[in-house]
Parts: sequence; structure tokens; C-alpha cells
Amino acid sequence: MRNISVVILAAGAGTRMKSPTPKVLHRLAGREMIDFAIRAALSVSSDVRVVLFHEFDLIAAHIGAEFGESGEFGGRVRCVRQDHLRFPGTGGAAMAGIEGDCGDRIVVLNGDMPLITPEFVKILSEKEEAIAISVFELEDPSGYGRVIIRENRVEKIVEEKDASEAEKSVNIVNAGVYSFSREFLTSFLPQLQNNNAQKEYYITDLIAIAAANGIPIGAVKGDRATLMGINSKSDLANAEKIYEDNLKKQLMNSGVIMRMPETIFIDDRAVFEGECILENGVVISGACKIKNSHIKTYSVIEESVIIESDIGPMAHIRPQSQIVKTHIGNFVETKNAKLNGVKAGHLSYLGDAEIGENTNIGAGTITCNYDGKKKHKTTIGKDVFIGSDTQLVAPVTIPDNVIIGAGTTVTKSCESGDLVLSRTEQKNIAGFFARFFGKTC
Ligand code: UD1
Ligand code: MG
Repeated sequence: MRNISVVILAAGAGTRMKSPTPKVLHRLAGREMIDFAIRAALSVSSDVRVVLFHEFDLIAAHIGAEFGESGEFGGRVRCVRQDHLRFPGTGGAAMAGIEGDCGDRIVVLNGDMPLITPEFVKILSEKEEAIAISVFELEDPSGYGRVIIRENRVEKIVEEKDASEAEKSVNIVNAGVYSFSREFLTSFLPQLQNNNAQKEYYITDLIAIAAANGIPIGAVKGDRATLMGINSKSDLANAEKIYEDNLKKQLMNSGVIMRMPETIFIDDRAVFEGECILENGVVISGACKIKNSHIKTYSVIEESVIIESDIGPMAHIRPQSQIVKTHIGNFVETKNAKLNGVKAGHLSYLGDAEIGENTNIGAGTITCNYDGKKKHKTTIGKDVFIGSDTQLVAPVTIPDNVIIGAGTTVTKSCESGDLVLSRTEQKNIAGFFARFFGKTC
């Protein structure tokens, strides 16, 4: 295998995103944009350098958490700093990326292209020419660098801001993934100039430099669905749609049933096993595991495990819920709740709770888990019948085989076998209706 280094350019300000969040930390299918480029890079190399400048600490902290020393990619990804004040632009970023020892082949990719695939990066990394670029065709090429080809030879890349009207009409664009021999890059990067509209050092100027020196330029053609760049929030939404459509197609091919899949959102980290059904409007957010379960219309599942259960419609399963062999009905919210063999059919909040087999949670049951300062746990055993409109003021433990009458506020512990009731006695006042409304009945 070739000795390959990958340099990912992610030091730009991303001003067109119009956001306080750095561009490469915006999310797509639940993952930060930069992660996609890093994952594609790791498929061909164990030496991945991410070039940062704007919001260095924030982005480096994210990369450390996701790809850091202790994880499965330990030591293969590191962040380097662009000397942005002296060398602004993608060329300046590449200069920072190749400092120190590099592989024989250097793949450079923009950090703002989350649809890039490992397969595409591999093809570029295997190119033999001293310099190879990636291109695709667009009906509307605006915003991209145009690839100027004369007599079947790539001549240069012109950025939109520097392009003539004729050059602007070219619809073959530069994707922003390049592959270089180390010799080419180390000798020619220092020759970049910044005499352009943005006064920046453009990596794309290396193409004209190679052409002027008679160095053959390789090109790999791809398409927008793999190579589009993200510069704005609408680009992000368009890319996410493409990514989600692919993800859902793969999941359906591996056994998930989806009703109106275009209305469903699924996080890239979610895992499905067995046969699952997702109805329209469902949101699966975060690293969920869902096995042999039915998630009904407009339910939201966040970072939870759902096994052999049916959820919703319109249920909200919040993080750290573990729901096994359970029926959850409409307007039920859970959070950090372990439910095994439970029925909670309507209108409940079950937070910081553990509930055992064959227990029935009546409509309107609330675990009062927060006392204004701290969260407390509610533990409910097996075969418990909880009547409607019960409040369980945590911390509280209900043993197996208990009945709680409707409308009870549970504040004390009880014994197995008890009926628990806290109700004010009902009073009936005869004839009150007629006196109050002044009519007989
Ligand atoms: C760039 C290309 C353009 C190409 C397009 C593909 C240049 C000059 N232009 O334009 O030809 O069609 O990508 O999407 O390369 N960055 C740095 N340091 C900087 C400036 C940018 O690391 O000083 C990083 C950004 O964080 C980003 C990437 O480089 O991840 C590309 O920068 P961006 O400003 O998005 O360039 P484009 O205008 O999209
Ligand atoms: Mg861009």
C-alpha cells in the first residue's frame, strides 16, 4: 500500500454560513460535517491532518472527542494550525498541512464536502500523475471554481470572483479534492501568489503552475451527489437530503419498513436490527438501537434503545431510555427510563424511572423526578397497577404487586400487596344543580 497522507482544509471562516457555529461543525444526519471528510480520509491513510484556524479550540476539541487518542482511530488524526494572517486561503492551509514528514502521496480535501465517499478518495489517492484534480458538471456552476480545459488538457482553475464572463459560463467545476506527489507539492506550493480578487493563496493556482511547467494533470470525474461543497445553510439542507435519501435506501434494503420515507429523519449513528417499522414523520436522533419494533407516526426517539416494543403515535423517547417488550402510546414522554414489559398507553411522563414486567401505567401518570434542585429516581416493581392521574413524588419505590388508585399522589413507601390511595372523600350535594342554574331537572 502507498504511503499516503491526507490534508483536510477546514481553517476558513465560513462566513457564508452566517452562523456563530463554525461551518465544519454544522451537522448533517446528526454528525458534524468535518467527520465525513475525516472518515473518508481514514479509509486510505493513518496520517490525517486537519488544518484549522478560525475556532481552532472548538473544532479541535470535537475532533479529539470523536477521533482522539483513546478511540478506535487513536493517533491517526491530528489538528494543525494555518498561518492564516500571512498565508490566507486554501493554498495557505495546504502549506500548514504538509509541514513535517509526509507520505509519498498527499491527498488534499476540503473540509466542507460531507458527501465525499471513501471510494472516491481511494481513486484519487491511486492516481499516478504528479497532480490530479476532481471535477463534476453542474447546470448552475455558480460559486465553484471553473475548470478551464483547452485541447483536451486542463489549463487552469479560475475562481468565480476572478472569472471572465466566458469563463463563468464553463460548467465543469473543481470539486476540491486533489492528489499530489510529495515532490510536486513541496516544490510548487511556495510559488503560489495572492494576486487575485480575494488576496488569498489559492491551492487551485497549482493547476496553472503545473500546466505552465508541462506537468501532466490527471482528472477524476464525479458527480454533485458525492462532491458538492457546503457554503451556505441551503447547501447544507440540500446535502442532508441527498445523504438521508441514501441512508434510508440502504436501511430499507437491509429490512427496515418505512411509510413515506421522505418524511422520516434518521441519524447516521442509528442501528436497526430485525424488522422495524417506521411510520411517517418519525425522527430517530442520535446513536439509537432499534430492534424488531414499530415506531408510529410523529414519534421522536433520541439516543435510546428500543427492543420488541411499539411506540407512539406522537411519543417522545428522550435520551438514555431502554424500552424492552413495552407498549408506549400517544403523548407519553420518557427520559432515562428503563421499562421492561410495561404498558404506558396514554399521556405520561416517566423520567429517571425503572419499571418492571407486567406493570400498567394509567393515563396521566407522572414521575415527579425534579425537586427544583436535584433529580430523583422512581422504582416500580412487577405486576403493579397504577391508576390514572397518579403522581409519584421521587425518590420513591413501589414494590411488586401493588395497586395505586386513580388520582393518588404517592409520597411514601408501601408494602407489596397494598392498595395505595390518597384521595379527598367525594361529597354529593343533593339538588345543587337546580339551585345554581335556577332550573329544574
Ligand atoms: C473552493 C475552491 C473552488 C472549488 C470549491 C469546491 C479554492 C480557492 N477554491 O472554493 O475552486 O470549486 O472549493 O467546493 O480553493 N479553508 C482553509 N483556509 C483558508 C480558506 C479556506 O482551510 O484560508 C478551507 C475552508 O475551511 C473549506 C475549504 O478550505 O473547508 C474550502 O474553502 P471555501 O472558502 O469553502 O472555498 P470555496 O469558495 O468553496
Ligand atoms: Mg466551499
